[in-house]
Amino acid sequence: MAFVATARITVILLLFLVLHDGCVGARPFDAAEALVAKAKDVSVGKVGSDVKSFNVLDYGAKADGKSDSSINFIRTFKAACNFRGNAMMVIPKGDFLIGPVIFSGPCFNPSSLIIQANGMVKARPDISYFTGGADGVDWITFQSLKNGLILSGDGTFHGQGAHTWKYNDCAHKSKCVRLPASMKFIKVNDTIISGIKSVDPKGFHIMVSVSQNIKFVNLDLQAPENSPNTDGIHISKSSKVEISECVIATGDDCVSMIHGTTEISIKNVICGPGHGFSIGSLGHYDNEADVSKITVTDSTLRGTTNGARIKTYKTDSPSKASNIIFKDLTMDRVANPIIIDQEYGNRASTQESRVSISDIHFENIEGTSESKIAVKLICSKLNPCIGVQMKNVSLKYVGRPNDPRPFSSNCTNAKVTYSGIQHPPPCAPGS
Ligand SMILES: *[C@@H]1O[C@H](CO)[C@@H](O)[C@H](O)[C@H]1NC(C)=O
Ligand SMILES: *[C@@H]1O[C@H](CO)[C@@H](O)[C@H](O)[C@H]1NC(C)=O
Ligand SMILES: *[C@@H]1O[C@H](CO)[C@@H](O)[C@H](O)[C@H]1NC(C)=O
Repeated sequence: MAFVATARITVILLLFLVLHDGCVGARPFDAAEALVAKAKDVSVGKVGSDVKSFNVLDYGAKADGKSDSSINFIRTFKAACNFRGNAMMVIPKGDFLIGPVIFSGPCFNPSSLIIQANGMVKARPDISYFTGGADGVDWITFQSLKNGLILSGDGTFHGQGAHTWKYNDCAHKSKCVRLPASMKFIKVNDTIISGIKSVDPKGFHIMVSVSQNIKFVNLDLQAPENSPNTDGIHISKSSKVEISECVIATGDDCVSMIHGTTEISIKNVICGPGHGFSIGSLGHYDNEADVSKITVTDSTLRGTTNGARIKTYKTDSPSKASNIIFKDLTMDRVANPIIIDQEYGNRASTQESRVSISDIHFENIEGTSESKIAVKLICSKLNPCIGVQMKNVSLKYVGRPNDPRPFSSNCTNAKVTYSGIQHPPPCAPGS
């Protein structure tokens, strides 16, 4: 009885969230706690009697780890999505094998579609199942879900990427084909992804585009340090994305935010191995939308190649990156703890980046640096960085003991103000 009452309250709170979605404005994550609690309930099957279950096993999926259950997953999703009541797709414990699938709306459920994922879902290892070119086929695509999605459980999505990483040629080709992301969210609003694990994606673990108001909480993303371009969460053209309580170990950026990302909050994330938290690369496409209002706080980077990074190419493509806060971060043997790099990709080119970077805050950054130049602010001669604030940066050198260079900062074309502790010492005024 008590449980039914709780479920009802949660449903009412969720309804409140949905009804108020149009006017949240300054507080995009209202009722966030209720949503997180609801996602936890979903993972253990507490969803209330008003929610009809659609179990993949009832649609012919085989939990034997070797029969291809793609069509069965798609049929289950379709049945849940077309149901005119509250619906939950269930992926129970067991091993499933699926190829590329698209879970596409619009759905007809009055409230967010629920997916409870507690099984081990493996991708077909063979890349030939994933054709379609640059923005073609990813593994599991969620698209056009405007009423939202609650994806929760302790299940694992295993991309079996070890079989395909050898096909990644991005290290020596600038126009390389992206390998399939394990999960892609496109045109998805008002969604929470909670609890699940992603292992060895072929490409990105998670990709988000043209979406709003998405929460990733308590995720475990795992791939080896040498796996190519396996970004943890890669975001473009999206706003109000919150990433919290996540562990991300991967071969590329833990979180990468490219053109058109605004209002992103990253909190309590442990990143490493990987390439750190990255804004950019920017200046990559024509007509790039700006990036703004990004906050990365209360997080730890372990053995990563970068910590807090903004990177732009030296191209003609103009855009702005502004209002970015990196705060309360711990660096544990990070190669480049603080880095703005406007020479990314082609240091030798005489062209200058046309991305303007302003209003960037590094505050309470502590820990250890593998490099002697722990703070690198290398900005464009054409568009110097303005409003860079360094407040309380306390790093210690732990790299090779015989490096004779001083522990230092490099500011090139950057207007920087300092307050509090500064280790390494600040750049010379006017440098
Ligand atoms: C998501 O929300 C935004 C802003 O409210 C809206 O413009 C967009 O059309 C919505 N997307 C979908 C798929 O409904
Ligand atoms: C600077 O850092 C020290 C040590 O981490 C802390 O005690 C102090 O409150 C910080 N000062 C500011 C202005 O944040
Ligand atoms: C600082 O960075 C610039 C740009 O990459 C480089 O040309 C310069 O040599 C660096 N200075 C030091 C002291 O490392």
